[in-house]
Amino acid sequence: MKRNILITGGAGFIGSHVVRLFVNNYPEYKIVNFDKLTYAGNLENLKDIENKPNYVFVKGDICDIDLVIKTIKELNIDSIIHLAAESHVDRSITDPFTFAQTNVMGTLSLLQAAKEIWKDNYEGKLFYHISTDEVYGSLGEEGFFTETTPYDPKSPYSAAKASSDHFVRAFNNTFGLPIVVSNCSNNYGPNQFPEKLIPLFINNILNSKPLPVYGKGENVRDWLYVVDHAKAIDAIFHNGKVGETYNIGGFNEWKNIDLIKVICRAMDKKLGRPDGTSETLITYVTDRAGHDHRYAIDASKINKELGWVPSLQFEEGIELTINWYFNNKLWIEGVTSGQYQNYYNSMYEGR
Ligand code: NAD
Ligand code: TYD
Repeated sequence: MKRNILITGGAGFIGSHVVRLFVNNYPEYKIVNFDKLTYAGNLENLKDIENKPNYVFVKGDICDIDLVIKTIKELNIDSIIHLAAESHVDRSITDPFTFAQTNVMGTLSLLQAAKEIWKDNYEGKLFYHISTDEVYGSLGEEGFFTETTPYDPKSPYSAAKASSDHFVRAFNNTFGLPIVVSNCSNNYGPNQFPEKLIPLFINNILNSKPLPVYGKGENVRDWLYVVDHAKAIDAIFHNGKVGETYNIGGFNEWKNIDLIKVICRAMDKKLGRPDGTSETLITYVTDRAGHDHRYAIDASKINKELGWVPSLQFEEGIELTINWYFNNKLWIEGVTSGQYQNYYNSMYEGR
């Protein structure tokens, strides 16, 4: 079946991998990338597919409901894969309003537009909302988040994402809008903006700058290679059950400090520096306010129902990621010029 899919946030980190996968794997679909191009959006991420006949870019804000309605109508959109969001926890601590505006009001604007345009015939329509495991809160040393874990968001970022998830399910319950939701663990890989842990540390090692470890480095995250997330989204989009939620995870938990040491060793090898060189850059800094201790996902539902498993081992994923940043120094230079230095100073100076 031919589909006309609106992918929001397609110029961002995960969105660009989702756009690429759909454009390349489904030439019969029309893929519309709808993105505001905030600091996190970068059309360079999509250079390799920008001239494909089944790809269209629309620059726009998801909060601009008139433009959203116009785009859905004019391009005959039948499905939305919604990734556009403010996504960095540290920024949500300094500027929670922007997170509520984009993540909550932006999602509501998309839902309202889709409902109004599709309501006479929901057949063949889908609103797929991409969310995070952070909505479930923080775990102790034991246990995993499942699809039925009660929501308990603890940062302004996760509170805004949780709120948007609730609106998506409310539109299904109240108006019958066909929806599906997935909640994924931490992603890493090519094209990730160097504000998140892995690309920030790779970039700092390249520049021999300190590696700011929050607190004692004992927080735990589950890491998934971004292309595997895109493949899970493909599986859920095509075969997920309407109204359902799917958790996506890497079966790959790491304490921050252990992960950082893996990156340091891999970077020393890549740079031809003596083992231990990068580790000397590790600097313990003031902890993030309200820092969630541990996230861990039970991804057995998507595995059992849709047959999805991560395809890469962590060591392979990290090597691919490091190689990408080495081979794309212009990309890093591009995104770390201008405002980035102000961001970096305000977040880390004197910490
Ligand atoms: P990102 O910050 O790299 O990209 C966000 C994209 O959204 C950018 O291209 C930006 O320009 C766009 N955008 C922001 N505000 C917009 C607006 N008002 N209108 C239109 N476009 C706008 O984010 P990411 O890390 O790729 O995350 C994508 C989605 O996946 C988010 O919804 C996030 O909550 C979710 N998620 C991320 C992770 C992760 O580890 N990064 C894990 C699980 C879920
Ligand atoms: P991050 O990549 O921001 O993802 P999230 O907070 O959404 O999980 O951070 C991953 C972990 O790394 C988290 O426990 C915070 C920690 N961290 C640092 O120790 N130093 C840093 O400079 C950053 C950005 C993160």
